[in-house]
Amino acid sequence: MPKLCVMPGDGIGQEVIPAAVTILQAALPNLEIVEAEAGWGCFEKHGASVPDATLDMIRECGAGLFGAVSSPSRKVAGYRSAILTMRQELNLYANIRPVQSWPRVSPRPDVNLIVVRENSEGLYVGKEESDGETAVAQRIITRTASQRIGQKTAELVQALGRQKVTIVHKANVLPLTDGLFRDTVRQEIAQGAPEAEINELLVDVAALKMVGSPEIFDVIVTTNLFGDILSDAAAHWGGGMGLAASLNWGDGLAIAEPVHGSAPDIAGQGIANPLAAVLSTALLARFVWGLGDVADRLETAVQQTLAADNYPQLTATRAIQDAVLVNLR
Ligand code: NAI
Ligand code: MG
Repeated sequence: MPKLCVMPGDGIGQEVIPAAVTILQAALPNLEIVEAEAGWGCFEKHGASVPDATLDMIRECGAGLFGAVSSPSRKVAGYRSAILTMRQELNLYANIRPVQSWPRVSPRPDVNLIVVRENSEGLYVGKEESDGETAVAQRIITRTASQRIGQKTAELVQALGRQKVTIVHKANVLPLTDGLFRDTVRQEIAQGAPEAEINELLVDVAALKMVGSPEIFDVIVTTNLFGDILSDAAAHWGGGMGLAASLNWGDGLAIAEPVHGSAPDIAGQGIANPLAAVLSTALLARFVWGLGDVADRLETAVQQTLAADNYPQLTATRAIQDAVLVNLR
């Protein structure tokens, strides 16, 4: 029986996660659910954005669903972003971000790509120091981390029958770090997914193509910060932040999470779109629990909800939740 540790977190996390859990329970009635705390609110209450008890709970369940964290953009003593802490403490080294065209909300009909973002090193880990005059951020790339993200990408390509992998990097100006990433990832994919076509793009060119011809992409694998940026750009084609899903994935442990943040501008109003959270639970079903049929049912229900004539009138979280429940078969 699958087990899930649910962490709504801050802001609209408190609204979209309960909606997604209600839908997931309808699709998977024998799911066992436990709730845990994480986020900025949790830090203010307990002095830790992810208490040890929460980490233990996720380990015990093997799977988590996290809403969002409200991270302050100034330095707060003792605080570390909840999602970053979980990624590191639980070694969730891959971030899977699929983007596909959906009815009505997508600006074009032909996008179907997955961004695989290295989730454990690079600039995004936020190792900075400053003497007030010079500020330095460290960017580490290792063979080990590049190998395992390459392997994860190959597994994904094989499991989903994908055809093409694009390695995105900036090895022209960073030949040592990004060269290591590119060469290592290429080797792992050639070994693990020998049928797949492998090509590569510099990140600036990849950004241009993401804007102009996103349909050319199949699977993209890249370093942490490039993946962060490129996947948000890609999310535009999937209908924006309200639809963007992600899976933080390690070995035998994963946390699904809508890409969006806590959206303080709309939090508490009951109008956040829960579909990104719903699609995130589908990633758990497909990749973590091996329940492709449940994932298909969830995604089809989302697709039908978006395609229905009344979708533009569904402005409340609850109304969208109820529509998905009706479409769930
Ligand atoms: P955000 O993703 O929270 O919001 C960006 C815009 O998209 C806002 O206008 C918001 O109303 C809208 N939006 C986001 N999700 C939506 C949804 N489900 N339905 C409808 N509209 C939605 O990003 P922002 O405003 O830059 O950051 C707000 C806070 O969230 C910050 O404290 C930031 O640190 C945090 N954050 C957390 C993330 C995470 O938990 N992984 C990711 C991004 C930001
Ligand atoms: Mg989020």
